[in-house]
Amino acid sequence: MPDYLNVASESDLPPEGEAREFSCGNKPICIANVNGVIIAMDNICLHRGGPLGQGTIEGNKIVCPWHGWQWDPKTGEAAHNPNAKIAVYPVKIENGSVMIEI
Ligand code: FES
Repeated sequence: MPDYLNVASESDLPPEGEAREFSCGNKPICIANVNGVIIAMDNICLHRGGPLGQGTIEGNKIVCPWHGWQWDPKTGEAAHNPNAKIAVYPVKIENGSVMIEI
């Protein structure tokens, strides 16, 4: 059964329109504030491994900082190719801790 694991403090969350990198164990995770909603997804872009947590947000997509592939943080799909899919994780915030189901 999946568990919720702590990944960040609520006070470290990015402001609206920004993404950041965190780690859950030794797994890098991108956490972003997309239009006021906190999302979590794998940090590694499927194109060439760009760090999505260093990317930008355009509209409702996370944009890889290396070559601009755009990722849907709800589905994990690449905008130009839904067959390219990154894992996304449910997020819960409790008592100042940000946890993801992983
Ligand atoms: S590594 Fe992400 S677009 Fe190239």
